[in-house]
Amino acid sequence: MSVIDLRSDTVTMPTQRMREAMLAAPVGDDVYAEDPTVNELERQVAQLLGHEAGLFCVSGSMCNMLGVRLLVEPGQEVVCDVQAHIARAEMGGHAAAHGLTMRTFPSTRGKVQLAEVAKIISPSAGPYLVSTAAVAVENTHNFGGGTIQPFDELTAVAELCREHGIGYHLDGARLWNAHIATGVALEAYGRLFDTVSVCFSKGLGAPVGTVLVSTADNIARARILRKRLGGGWRQAGILAAAALYALDHHVERLADDHAAARALAGALAERSPSAAKVESVATNIVVLDTGDKPAAAVAQAAAAQGVLVSALGRHTLRAVTHLDVTTEQCVRAGGVLGDLLSAP
Ligand SMILES: Cc1ncc(COP(=O)(O)O)c(C=O)c1O
Repeated sequence: MSVIDLRSDTVTMPTQRMREAMLAAPVGDDVYAEDPTVNELERQVAQLLGHEAGLFCVSGSMCNMLGVRLLVEPGQEVVCDVQAHIARAEMGGHAAAHGLTMRTFPSTRGKVQLAEVAKIISPSAGPYLVSTAAVAVENTHNFGGGTIQPFDELTAVAELCREHGIGYHLDGARLWNAHIATGVALEAYGRLFDTVSVCFSKGLGAPVGTVLVSTADNIARARILRKRLGGGWRQAGILAAAALYALDHHVERLADDHAAARALAGALAERSPSAAKVESVATNIVVLDTGDKPAAAVAQAAAAQGVLVSALGRHTLRAVTHLDVTTEQCVRAGGVLGDLLSAP
């Protein structure tokens, strides 16, 4: 039985061509900033996002920690939505390593709303309360189900941050998906923020790596903070080459992943019209409500039929499409899930 692995878009394997690019990469010691392939990747990503400089790091979590830390001093807070990856899935790293606190605002499917942000921020809160030093948003939103943040709302929050003199960080692990789905230029997204992180190991199919972009001064500080976290690396150009390859070959094709996600949701709804409670599909993530069936049990039964999905909550499942699954396989997976949900 062939397995259709939809647990995450991080499960992809580097393609043969990507491996060849990695093998051919000129490399150097990146702690000395002497790796030409890393330097080229950082230059290209900064330019794409309309920033001065970039820093290639091992993970999205590390770039988020660095990006937020550039804007928030120990003892200050960053504000984000209640489902944000930085709040739920970075193992408290922002607090543990950088001594900052977080407060969260409610959101539907991770969508940021100006009114909620305006309500919660407390810049310069004085001696009794923690001061808000930054707002962080996620685009697309992972636990929200691949949700795209409306550009107008992102812009309005950017203006609010400027008005109050606080920073604005974008967790753009899947910004590529938002860009392809909306046609909004990466640079237009990038310029709204003080710090932006974008991942290569999600939909773009590289094995490892995220780039943080910001001003040249900020990135110089981030290099020091990265080394403090143990994240200085040496001939990292082998990995940067995979990211450069992905930039050239795997961005436009994200539209295929989005179509596959819609096909999966469609097959599911067709097979189980009454039971299927699939959230609308914006990009490559399908979130579904398992009703009165425990999500873990549905995931286990699907796995027995060769379909792997993640249980996000007690009654919520997530399926993520990517480079290593075909639309046909996604339709089959939707059918398996639909049958399981409609079974008595
Ligand atoms: C939205 C978002 N941000 C950040 C990350 C962290 O990336 P990494 O696993 O590389 O630390 C993830 C990982 O899935 C993510 O979905």
